[in-house]
Amino acid sequence: MHDITDLNSHFGIGEQLMFSLLGENMVVADINTDLCTARVAIQGAQVLEWAPKGQRSVIWLSTDAKFIPGKSIRGGTPVCWPWFGAHATNSDYPAHGYARTVDWDLLSSELLADGRIKLVFSIQTSDATRRVWPHTSPLECHIFLGNTLELELITRNDESVPIIISEALHTYFAVSDVRQVRVSGLDACEYLDKVDNFNRKTQQGVINFSGEVDRVYLATESKCVIDDSNWKRQIHITKRGSRSTVVWNPWIDKSQAMGDMGESGYLNMLCVESGNAASDVVTIEPAKEHRLWVRYHVES
Ligand code: BG6
Repeated sequence: MHDITDLNSHFGIGEQLMFSLLGENMVVADINTDLCTARVAIQGAQVLEWAPKGQRSVIWLSTDAKFIPGKSIRGGTPVCWPWFGAHATNSDYPAHGYARTVDWDLLSSELLADGRIKLVFSIQTSDATRRVWPHTSPLECHIFLGNTLELELITRNDESVPIIISEALHTYFAVSDVRQVRVSGLDACEYLDKVDNFNRKTQQGVINFSGEVDRVYLATESKCVIDDSNWKRQIHITKRGSRSTVVWNPWIDKSQAMGDMGESGYLNMLCVESGNAASDVVTIEPAKEHRLWVRYHVES
């Protein structure tokens, strides 16, 4: 566990960036600047909250989220890496990889000239990571917090042979009522429908929500927009280095089985995940890197 006093003296920035404990063991960075308020957990380099100044939160965090070291946190911006979903060959390995459940190293914090806070996190290869991922592939996550939120995931291949990864920034967005919102940007895209045995289908028009949705849209680099007319806002999702977009809402039965979604929490969240999955997995050549970048901003 990281020492709060050390973190504050090395990486704190006055009242704009301070570290504290959430629950007994979860170390978080609290950000309060002229541009936004936000909270970022060291575990997973996971943004738990982000609200442009004077606005409601853009990121959803479950009211029943558990802050237990080594367990995934329901909400925020989990990093799925170095695989997305179930492991291809070993069902004992954790779903969505291990990056979201380990403590990352914070390398730097900075107040940029434009008023944003930049945090740089990394995970190095270790004996523990080698047990489930036998490759030397250091990972960094760069987080820019302002009136936009930017995340960049940088995977480097330090092996002498190519490596193949799948990944996603599995962001949970806060919505007024998922039954009233629609997602645009994926018209005519092909997707794998996980709710229908991974059948391949084609999107027609915008996505509406009236039941469980779990889809991997393939070969799309398009921007998506979550249109939330009740809250009179549109969340814009722009990405680079990503060929897949995953859209997920577990609906009633699955959320009840999950146990950490909160009372009817599924109505107030929607995941639109930017990544590379299924046939869009990424091959990284030796000594090369791959960058997955997203930017979220709100228009009203
Ligand atoms: C989504 C998957 O990305 O993540 C879903 O497409 C999955 O199938 C969901 O249920 C949540 O996963 P987890 O491991 O955080 O419960």
